[in-house]
Amino acid sequence: MAVDYTTHDGVAVITLNNPPVNGLGLSTRAGIVEGLERAQNDPAIKAIVLTGAGKAFSGGADITEFNTPKATQEPTLHTVIKAVEGSAKPVVAAIHSVAMGGGLELALGAHYRIAAHGAQIALPEVKLGILPGAGGTQHLPRAIGLEAALNMMVSGAPVMSEKLAGSGLFDDVVEGNLAEAALAFARKVGAQTGPHPKVRDRKIEHANAEGFIQFTRNTVGAMAKNFPAPLKCIDAVEAGVKNGFDKGLAFERECFVALVQTPESHALRHAFFGERAASKIPDVPSDTPVREIKQVAVIGAGTMGGGIAMNFINAGLPVTLLETKQEALDRGLATIRKNYEATVKKGKLKPEALEQRMALITPTLSYDDLKHADLIVEAVFEELGVKEQVFKRLDEVAKPGAILASNTSTLDVDKIAAFTKRPQDVVGMHFFSPANVMKLLEVVRGKETAKDVLATVMQLAKKIKKTAVVSGVCDGFIGNRMIEQYIRQALFMLEEGALPAQVDKAIEKFGFAMGPFRMSDLAGNDIGWAIRKRRYLEHPDMHYSKIADRLCETGRFGQKTGSGWYDYKAGDRTAYPSKLVDEMIVGYSQETGAQRRKISDAEIVERLVFALTNEGAKILEEGIASKASDIDMVYLTGYGFPLYRGGPMLYADTVGLYNVERAIRGYAARANGDAWQLAPSIAALAEKGRGFNG
Ligand code: 3HC
Ligand code: NAI
Repeated sequence: MAVDYTTHDGVAVITLNNPPVNGLGLSTRAGIVEGLERAQNDPAIKAIVLTGAGKAFSGGADITEFNTPKATQEPTLHTVIKAVEGSAKPVVAAIHSVAMGGGLELALGAHYRIAAHGAQIALPEVKLGILPGAGGTQHLPRAIGLEAALNMMVSGAPVMSEKLAGSGLFDDVVEGNLAEAALAFARKVGAQTGPHPKVRDRKIEHANAEGFIQFTRNTVGAMAKNFPAPLKCIDAVEAGVKNGFDKGLAFERECFVALVQTPESHALRHAFFGERAASKIPDVPSDTPVREIKQVAVIGAGTMGGGIAMNFINAGLPVTLLETKQEALDRGLATIRKNYEATVKKGKLKPEALEQRMALITPTLSYDDLKHADLIVEAVFEELGVKEQVFKRLDEVAKPGAILASNTSTLDVDKIAAFTKRPQDVVGMHFFSPANVMKLLEVVRGKETAKDVLATVMQLAKKIKKTAVVSGVCDGFIGNRMIEQYIRQALFMLEEGALPAQVDKAIEKFGFAMGPFRMSDLAGNDIGWAIRKRRYLEHPDMHYSKIADRLCETGRFGQKTGSGWYDYKAGDRTAYPSKLVDEMIVGYSQETGAQRRKISDAEIVERLVFALTNEGAKILEEGIASKASDIDMVYLTGYGFPLYRGGPMLYADTVGLYNVERAIRGYAARANGDAWQLAPSIAALAEKGRGFNG
């Protein structure tokens, strides 16, 4: 049963009991209505408390029911809220922790609300590409005022209950025992004669509601360009302000039904579940015991090591930072301090917190200082010989059971593990640069990596606020292996007729944060050059455009050298198209006999995105990633793929794999077509009319 019913001296307590977050699925909704009826029919009951068991009052509508018949099956949330509102006996919502989305809307239907300190209150629907669809857009402005309500709705951000004390939302916010306070409150109001107050009967007071709504619309419109939901929140609030509660409610419903069908909402829900699914590894049960991580060590205080150390420090874990030379150590520490100082300047960190964080670092030049570490993350030069030295030394000094992680981006984690006598304790932790900022962490599972090591690292990733995705061992892991195909296509298109600015613009218009050429200029063109040189040796048969090598030969490594695919001015990161480079590209085409032609923006987008999808499909076929949503999470959190398109695998599903297959076959038959080897799973799924996500 998803709802419990108990009585306490004249008060009925209806407790939502649908773990994990008391989602308002069909059985919970039906249980609430049943409980209300039972309370109405019992003359001994004078008042009702509506509350939640476990970790939430309610996390809102059950998102898994969206677009299924259950979502609209009676009693809908509207019916439930009407029943609460219409109860002849007063209903008191008692919120001990999370009240979000439909959960808050349910509470807003109650006659009274009391909350515990520290409860998280939100209408987070916009984060799922929808708007509050059970009266939230009408009730909340009447409860806390137009401005505060619009803020909560368009941001979706949670607000602590104590901040809302006195706002008109809560009758009381208590620090002590909420259950007792709720019962006492219910007895008090149960003794009063009705009718009991309804939020819907309140007026929205505002000196210039129309002006404020227009102002919000302008601000939000500029910020939420590709996300339709925030503007719809404003429209629905406006409808209620202009035409009253019931008309506002009907309009809200209309918007909800339309938004829940949009690809943007689909993508955002995919990301919501994808993030949670990523932490689940098919053959590692959720109750796998984890190793305790209290002390961390980081080897190498360079670009990555410093950022990696900051992640742990930020989570309160002490870090021993090891370098080979005092100067390198000092440089690394100075960079960490500089980063924190920048955060202090922005007002996001208190000056005293800076010193506390720095105090968590123990700098050292001696491996002896690593013997207490529970986790050691290596971030030294990307050379197998250097990794070998480090891991052999770690094997000697690390305590038994310590996890030994490598941040390598291209080397074979199994080879690194084999440098030790404990390969089961070795794992890849591939952070992205800047490591203290980027959300993505690829956890590379070697063939011997122990299950509890994986479980520990996945749990730790949550603690340091990373989205961790497990990847098997292969060149480039999930993210970089795919990006290589994307870059390959970008370079071929230069040969065939496009210019860097056109390619970048087309894919940025599609929604990428940065096109491939701007990205390469930022990362350093020499990095890709080094990788390609290795590729030429390892895979002499593989066809690459040499156009980027030509650029590198002129020393145009990108922003760091003041020029790359684009020109840069000192102190200015703006990418200015370079006449010189464009001429070089056209000249290269002539030299190689390539027929330059006009390449449409649609072709650019297809070739770049389907190159990702195609390689992603191969990664799934090989079991390097265990599910398509893992690949999407890598791209959404690490590579600037537009969130509202859900990642390269979901996007392909949206286009339809039949169409993806046709496009890939088409490109394979044209110039540079040998770069396209259709992943067999795309054809197989297309034939069955299926997608990567079902
Ligand atoms: N529906 C279905 N499942 C939900 C859910 C929901 N509303 N909210 C959370 N879950 C599931 C998660 O998928 C996860 O499942 P799993 O264990 O199988 O992976 C589980 O509950 C626990 O979730 P978290 O790992 O996120 O747990 P936390 O304790 O970290 O956070 C939370 C709890 C703050 C409630 C967080 O889950 C959250 O933000 N949930 C989404 C809240 C939300 O967006 N609500 C609005 C829903 S839409 C709505 O209400 C429409 C209405 O206006 C009509
Ligand atoms: P870096 O050159 O900035 O830093 C490496 C640091 O390691 C230097 O400070 C060096 O003094 C130190 N070092 C070298 N040998 C050492 C040893 N034997 N013991 C202790 N310290 C030693 O390099 P970066 O960019 O930080 O890369 C480190 C690792 O992270 C590499 O494996 C790289 O592939 C990986 N990586 C790099 C990313 C990037 O964007 N820079 C992204 C993801 C992974």
